[in-house]
Amino acid sequence: MSEDKPKTGEEILEEKREKALLGGGNARIESQHRKGKLTARERLHFLLDEGSFRETGMLVTHRTAGFGMEQEKYPGDGVVTGYGTVQGRLVYVYSQDFTVFGGSLSETHAEKICKVMDLAMKTGAPLIGLNDSGGARIQEGVVSLGGYADIFYRNTLASGVIPQLSAIMGPCAGGAVYSPAITDFILMVENTSYMFVTGPNVVKTVTHEEVTSEELGGADTHAVKSGVTHFACKNEIECINTIKGLLSYMPQNCEEQPPFLPFEGDPLAPVPQLDKLIPANANQPYDMCELVSLLADEGSFLEVHKDFAGNMITGFARLAGRSIGVVANQPAVLAGVLDIQASRKAARFVRFCDSFNIPLLVLVDVPGFLPGTDQEWNGIISNGAKLLYAFSEATVPRITVITRKAYGGAYCVMNSKHIGADMNYAWPNAEIAVMGARGAAEIIFKKEIAAAADPDAKWKEKEEQYSTIFANPYRAAERGFIDEVIAPRETRARLISAFEMLAQKVVNAPRKKHGNIPL
Ligand code: HXC
Repeated sequence: MSEDKPKTGEEILEEKREKALLGGGNARIESQHRKGKLTARERLHFLLDEGSFRETGMLVTHRTAGFGMEQEKYPGDGVVTGYGTVQGRLVYVYSQDFTVFGGSLSETHAEKICKVMDLAMKTGAPLIGLNDSGGARIQEGVVSLGGYADIFYRNTLASGVIPQLSAIMGPCAGGAVYSPAITDFILMVENTSYMFVTGPNVVKTVTHEEVTSEELGGADTHAVKSGVTHFACKNEIECINTIKGLLSYMPQNCEEQPPFLPFEGDPLAPVPQLDKLIPANANQPYDMCELVSLLADEGSFLEVHKDFAGNMITGFARLAGRSIGVVANQPAVLAGVLDIQASRKAARFVRFCDSFNIPLLVLVDVPGFLPGTDQEWNGIISNGAKLLYAFSEATVPRITVITRKAYGGAYCVMNSKHIGADMNYAWPNAEIAVMGARGAAEIIFKKEIAAAADPDAKWKEKEEQYSTIFANPYRAAERGFIDEVIAPRETRARLISAFEMLAQKVVNAPRKKHGNIPL
C-alpha cells in the first residue's frame, strides 16, 4: 500500500522545510497579521534582493526540558538567520519569529544569532537584526540570559568593525534592549514596537506611575524624548526601506571605503539659490536642512535622528556621488544653540562616520552653548566635551563651512581648524567671535557706558564698533583659521574639490589602547 511506502530522503527534507517555513503555525501567523505586523520571513523577503536569502540553522530546535517543552518544538526555534544581499551587497540577518514562543530568546535561538554575527565579523559585512521578541525564554531561565550576554559581547566586539543595524518590529523589553542599544542605528515602527527596561506593570508597582507601553517606550517616545531610536517609521515597509537607504552610504566594514555612486552632473556648477537662503537680519532663522539639500546631490540627503534634538542636524548625503556625513546646527530650532542632547546626538554620529571612513561635512551657525541650571546640572560640560572629543579624534576628511554665526566655545567645538579640521570655509557674512557684539560691548565698555550722558546710545555705538571689528570672517581668515571665504553659490563646487583632494588622507594618531571619551 502506498501509505506504507517509506518516504524518500528528499520528501523528509521537504516536510521539515515546510514545517520550518510555517513557524508557529497558521493561526499565529494570522494573529501577527491582525496586529499589522509582517512575519519574520516576510520581513526578510522585503529586505533582501530577490532570491538572495540563504538560511542557516533552519532545523535547529531548543534543548529545554520541563514545562511540556519536550513536546513543543519548532524547527528554527523562533529566529530566522542567514545571509543575502541588499542592492547586491552581502549582509547577515536575523529575524525573530514572534509566532514561535513569542520570538523569545532561548539558548539555541541565541546560538543561531551568534553564528551569523561571527560570520559577519569573519567576512566583514553588515549585520541587520529584525527584533520582535517577548525577551528571555522564560522556561529556560539563566541559560537564556547567558544567550543574551553572548550577543551583547559580540555586538561590542563588532562595534566599529562592521555596521550593525537594529530594527524593532515588536516588543523588545528587559535587558534585551541592550543589543540594539550597542548597535549603530535603531529603527522603530510606530504603534507596533516598543522598547523598555521595565514595562508598565513594574513601573506602576515601583513608582505608582500609570503609563501605556506606547507612552513608555513606543517609537515616538524614543524618537523624540529619549533619542534611543534614530528613526520612527510609519510602518514596517518604510522601516525596511530606510535600512536599505542607510546601507547605501556605508562601507561593508571599517577597512573599506563607502560606495561611490555614479554622478552625471557638472560638479563645478554654482548653486545660486544658496545666495538667497540666509536672511539679512542675523537673528532671523532659516532652514539648514534646505541648505544641506541644495549643497548635496539631488535627493541624496537622509536625515538621521530627525525627531531628536532638532537644533542639531545629522545625516548622510552625497557630493558628486561621494558618501558624506553631515553635522549641522539648525538655526530654525532654538537658534541652533548647542545643548546636552544636541552634543550627544552629534558626537555619536561623528564617531559612526569616523569608524566607517565616511568623510564629515560640518555646517556651522551656532550662537553658543545654552545657558541655564538645567543644562549645567545635567552635565553640559561632560556632554559638550563628547562632541569636542569626537571631532578631535576623528581622522576622516573633515570640512567645515561657517554659514553665519560661530560664537564662543561652540566655534572651537564645531570642527574648527584647531581641533583638526582639514579645510575651513566661511561665507562672507559669517560672524566669528567670542560672543555677540551687544553682550561683548556691555562687558568691555561697562564703565564707559555707565558714565555716558546717554548710556543706551553709547552702548549702541560700542556694539557697532565691536561688530565691525569682530563680527565677520576676516580676523579668522587673517590668522589662517579659515582657509577661504567663499560665496554661498561656490560652496558645492569647493566641497566636491576639497573632499576629492582629501580622499587619500592618512593620520597617524598617537599609539594607545583606546581613548577615554567623557561618557
Ligand atoms: C516564553 C513567551 C515569552 C517568553 C511570550 N511568550 N513571551 N514564551 N518566554 N518570554 C509566548 C506566549 O506564551 C504565547 O504563547 C506567545 O509567546 C505570544 O505571547 P502573547 O502573550 O500571547 O502575545 P501578546 O499578547 O502580543 O504579548 C506579547 C508580550 C507578552 C507583551 C511580549 O507575551 C509578555 O509580556 N511576555 C513576557 C515578557 C517577559 O516578561 N519577558 C521576560 C523579560 S526579562 P502561545 O503558545 O500562547 O502562542 C528579559 C530579560 C532579558 O527578557 C535579559 C537580558 C540580559
